[in-house]
Amino acid sequence: MSRSATYPIRMLNPALRLRTGSRRAGHPHGVCKTGRGSSRSCNRIVAPGVPVLYQTFSISFEETGMPEQKRLYIKTYGCQMNVYDSERMAEAMGEHGYKTTSDPEGADLILLNTCHIREKAAEKVYSELGRLKPLKASNPNLRIGVAGCVAQAEGAEIMRRQPMVDLVVGPQSYHRLPELEARARNGEHPLDTEFPAELKFEGLSRRPGTNRGPTAFLTVQEGCDRFCAFCVVPYTRGAEASRPVSSVIAEAQRLVANGVREITLLGQNVNAYNGEGRDGAVSLAKLISGMEAIDGLDRIRYTTSHPNDMTDDLIEAHGTCPKLMPYLHLPVQSGSDRILKRMNRGHTAKAYVRLIERIRAARPDILISGDFIVGFPEETEVDFADTMALVEEVRYGQSYSFKYSARPGTPAAERDQVDPEVASDRLERLQTLLSRQQRDSQDDMIGREVGVLFERKGRKQDQMVGKSEHLHAVHVSNGNIVAGDLLRVRITDSAPNSLAGELTAG
Ligand code: 5AD
Ligand code: SF4
Repeated sequence: MSRSATYPIRMLNPALRLRTGSRRAGHPHGVCKTGRGSSRSCNRIVAPGVPVLYQTFSISFEETGMPEQKRLYIKTYGCQMNVYDSERMAEAMGEHGYKTTSDPEGADLILLNTCHIREKAAEKVYSELGRLKPLKASNPNLRIGVAGCVAQAEGAEIMRRQPMVDLVVGPQSYHRLPELEARARNGEHPLDTEFPAELKFEGLSRRPGTNRGPTAFLTVQEGCDRFCAFCVVPYTRGAEASRPVSSVIAEAQRLVANGVREITLLGQNVNAYNGEGRDGAVSLAKLISGMEAIDGLDRIRYTTSHPNDMTDDLIEAHGTCPKLMPYLHLPVQSGSDRILKRMNRGHTAKAYVRLIERIRAARPDILISGDFIVGFPEETEVDFADTMALVEEVRYGQSYSFKYSARPGTPAAERDQVDPEVASDRLERLQTLLSRQQRDSQDDMIGREVGVLFERKGRKQDQMVGKSEHLHAVHVSNGNIVAGDLLRVRITDSAPNSLAGELTAG
């Protein structure tokens, strides 16, 4: 992994201070979203293959290939990057005799993999810890750890307030988790929130051969250098860093050997990917084109991107890489130039709209998804009208919209806040428009033939659910389909968050 920048310490809150100096140089976005991409704010269940998610769920990776000894329960909050990290932590602990469980009762190790992107992050952690208290009291073998971005920002405070926490591990230190767990078993209370010189991905073991589903996340980039005025990510995840190409390709090949057909490349600012290759630095577009050579890999996606990192070669790749799916999550946050400037986004509304036009010229059927924040400090009704106008112009197929939430230590937290009722009203109006656009884009699919990668059984008898190229969830009732099948489907119907269809003949 290469890191490329150091920053001045600019946090106002010492708990969120960015460490500099010891870091080597090389976006969340990727950070959150709701599940299936409706324009509601963050309240859906995460499913792999979904763009950006800020949600809570527990994972179970039953097949670690190790003898069953100790049990690990991980509760994951937030984005796909956390989903990926939880998977890697489970794998690392799998090598130390841990098998994952979906039941916290009887677990020997409980990890809360936390998210700090929007409000009440720490409160959620404290209330979860409160719920775990009886388990801790009744099981002397149980160790409890807090991981993720809340751990990074407030780890020491959490340990001070909650002595039942046995270990704290920041997102850059997961490769040290087995050692931290051993120390916790020895009666210590280790806290590791450094940005270490060694890189976690290269320190983590090779991914074990698990019997997994047909889609997977693969983190290729971490951290963000953009410092949007509302966002905590540059402080909790640090400077941009990219994994070397060989390491990404090796992991992708291993996933494919284990049945994966679709890989979503992840990064907080993924299109700033700049990984070391054999002949120098490699861009995201080049990485994608290299991955296309992997036999058995059918689909590639990436998320989340910053508009200013949409380079010419990446735009072109949308027209020339057959495995790159016609879906792009490209947050804009606001349609008002005044607010974009205050957000430190580095682009205007017009520049964003032009960019979308260029991307659509390269791939006319691409589905555009976006992130929006309403009620950013000092946002007026005129600014909000600009956001509505931008949405009308772009026409989003999917979206994630949020009320601004002041994050301690970020520049915008110090500014004049918008009345929460005004912000709620704007959010409702925006979401009504975005939902209508999503529905329109789904209705457009009726009668069309799409490829669907089936992932799991649906609720109804013989029903299977998969994703189309445009990331629509598609339901098909047919008893012969199994997970992992990639089949042609004619769309017959559209529901609020999914499509229905039938297999085409032949
Ligand atoms: N308040 C509200 N929304 C936020 N996001 C990031 N930080 C904040 C905040 N402080 C949203 C942005 C980003 C997405 C992942 O989360 O829209 O793109
Ligand atoms: Fe995305 Fe901006 Fe946050 Fe970076 S600072 S992760 S670009 S919202």
